[in-house]
Amino acid sequence: MINPLIHSMAICPDMNKTYPKIEFGKGVYLFEKNGKRYLDASSGSSSVSNIGHGRTEIAEAMYEQVCKVSVLPTHAFSSEMVENYLQKLVNFAPQGFQKAWTVMSGTEAVENAVKLALQYHQLRGEPNRYKIISRWNTYHGNSVFMLDIGGMKVRRELYAKWHNNFPHLSPAYTYRKPNALSIDEYTKSLLTEFEQCLIETGTETVAALIAEPVVAAALGAVPPPEGYFKGMKAICEKYGVLYISDEILSGFGRTGKNFGIENFGIIPDIIAAGKGISGGYFPLSAVFASGKVMQPFIDSNSAFLGGHTFACNPVGAAVGTKVLDILKNEDLINHSQKMGALLLNKLQQLLDLDMVGDVRGVGLQCGIEIVQDKVTKKPFPAALAVSKKIGEKSVEKGVVLYPGSGSVDGTLGNHILITPPLIVSETELDEIVEVLKTCIKEVSSELATKVF
Ligand SMILES: Cc1ncc(COP(=O)(O)O)c(C=O)c1O
Repeated sequence: MINPLIHSMAICPDMNKTYPKIEFGKGVYLFEKNGKRYLDASSGSSSVSNIGHGRTEIAEAMYEQVCKVSVLPTHAFSSEMVENYLQKLVNFAPQGFQKAWTVMSGTEAVENAVKLALQYHQLRGEPNRYKIISRWNTYHGNSVFMLDIGGMKVRRELYAKWHNNFPHLSPAYTYRKPNALSIDEYTKSLLTEFEQCLIETGTETVAALIAEPVVAAALGAVPPPEGYFKGMKAICEKYGVLYISDEILSGFGRTGKNFGIENFGIIPDIIAAGKGISGGYFPLSAVFASGKVMQPFIDSNSAFLGGHTFACNPVGAAVGTKVLDILKNEDLINHSQKMGALLLNKLQQLLDLDMVGDVRGVGLQCGIEIVQDKVTKKPFPAALAVSKKIGEKSVEKGVVLYPGSGSVDGTLGNHILITPPLIVSETELDEIVEVLKTCIKEVSSELATKVF
């Protein structure tokens, strides 16, 4: 019996909110028991249900595998299902990748990517390379370790005493670049900042740089300026620093390529992926290691010192295999590129609205930034929670978006992430943009009556 005095029995969500209860999902839609329909333009908690909801062929693949075996004593066994899947993952990765390993969440995958980098340096006789350089306004997961490495100030604060506080670089955020700099100069300034940071930190103490290709939840789908990642990778190579691409959100077709970083012409050393890897049908994520990273492990015959009960789970492998089949058979990665271009184009029309300062994105990882003043780019006061209000209104109107805040300085700034399933149609994109437009207009007129 559900206690009527408590909004939700879950520990985490908003204590004062009653969440609508979803009974089932089909395609891009979620349905309540009473029939109310929501277009899931967020794809779960952003970019998860890439292949859409309610896919019975996934249920069948899962059932078949569970009937065979659902968990293995991995210290003693592997299975054909798992080995074949890992091979498929490696084939899906950019050239030069050699091995993969699956775990359960994005946080675990990124943490394992970092551990792999640390062990790589240890095995090569450089144990002093233990620092990880990342950027402000980026998210790499919710464990205390990953919050430290990530750059979301509000989320980090509570655990600050546990943190190492390795260097964080400025985000590559063209919309908010200093006005005095051209894009080229801005890119150069970011690269100089990185190189300077390495030198000041001690180049021989840095293990890896970690970056999201298109910054998702923390900035609202921000790609870097042209040449940025090429420059960052070149600096990494110059100083023996590994490059980790956090593809938890950008991977598996979201940006119109297998991995987001492939839009920027570089090949990282390590990739962490999650979310869309299983389409949300199983808690699954993966770490991919290049041949370069694997070499010292092979040369010294050393085991990777990671380990999780559900690592390389055969049911996860069955689901992941089916997801890869669907991506290929339905040409969803190209579809994502095509629909992404259309979505970006349709979102550009919102720039006519007073509050929409910027529209950006790659593939179906798109976002808009909401500002109080479009000329000065001044954000709204944080207490007004403008993006949250727009997000809540759009849920009421049947479209689920992913609102975020803190893009300007960790606290100020409002953005909305728009990441529909990769199976989305143009008509559904129109529905998303229309509802978003109405919600922005409504919030805008509500704010017009306020003094702040
Ligand atoms: C870029 C990025 N890295 C890591 C994570 C953490 O993934 P998870 O929530 O599955 O632990 C997320 C989650 O949103 C993410 O967007």
